[in-house]
Amino acid sequence: MTYIDVTREFDAAAASYDQLVAASPGYYQNLARSARRMRLPGDGAGLHLLDLGCGTGASTLALLAAAPQARITAVDGSAGMLAKARQSDWPQRVSFVHAQADQLAAAGIHGPFDGIFAAYLVRNLPDPDSVLARLCKQLAPGAPFAVHDYTLDGRIRSRAIWTAVCWSVIIPAGKLVTGRAALYRYLWRSVLRFDTVDALAARLRRHGLTDPQIATMPGWERGIVHTVVARKPAGNPAQKPE
Ligand SMILES: C[S@@+](CC[C@H](N)C(=O)[O-])C[C@H]1O[C@@H](n2cnc3c(N)ncnc32)[C@H](O)[C@@H]1O
Repeated sequence: MTYIDVTREFDAAAASYDQLVAASPGYYQNLARSARRMRLPGDGAGLHLLDLGCGTGASTLALLAAAPQARITAVDGSAGMLAKARQSDWPQRVSFVHAQADQLAAAGIHGPFDGIFAAYLVRNLPDPDSVLARLCKQLAPGAPFAVHDYTLDGRIRSRAIWTAVCWSVIIPAGKLVTGRAALYRYLWRSVLRFDTVDALAARLRRHGLTDPQIATMPGWERGIVHTVVARKPAGNPAQKPE
């Protein structure tokens, strides 16, 4: 499935996305856990945060809980997912923008950001390094970049659990609720193909971020879903957009 197909599939899945994730144990709690792991200062007052790949707003809500006074720009490439997000009540400090991850400047989205949250996004990017390179330039000195995703710990056990959960629960439930299975089969495959969590941490380092901190989730997602938080070195200012 190409990148364009992924966002089309999210458009098609938007109406039932929240129903599906609500049935996924720990989905919202684990997003909140990752947002807290960014260790944003105080109540977030004065901060500008980016939630890239915000979907229907579950990750935006997690970011808002971690930094209630922050200004949040939430971006997604699927108009359908964004339409669902906009149905909820949000403080005025939260704005939603329809843009592709590699087209932020063209959509008028500029840093410096005091934190970037990317939940279930990076794995879906056709060219993650070009997007990461641009994003890292937009981080303020010392600011965290948090990736929350299905990134396996490299153990055979985790691959086996992931495959078993996908084929016994996620793919059948996705098909039952949405009438389509392509997105959920893609989810299974993309996780097996994407970086292990150590490789993801190394990828962030290659983009100049420091000290990546890896932490997993409780329950069946242990070793399967991780937060990786790395930081722009202090004293390394955000660069002007290209
Ligand atoms: C699995 S959803 C996660 C949504 C949300 N972050 C959450 O945690 O619930 C992934 C989102 O990333 C978006 N996405 C995928 N590729 C994208 C891209 N290249 N640019 C912008 N958004 C993208 C999809 O449209 C989808 O809404």
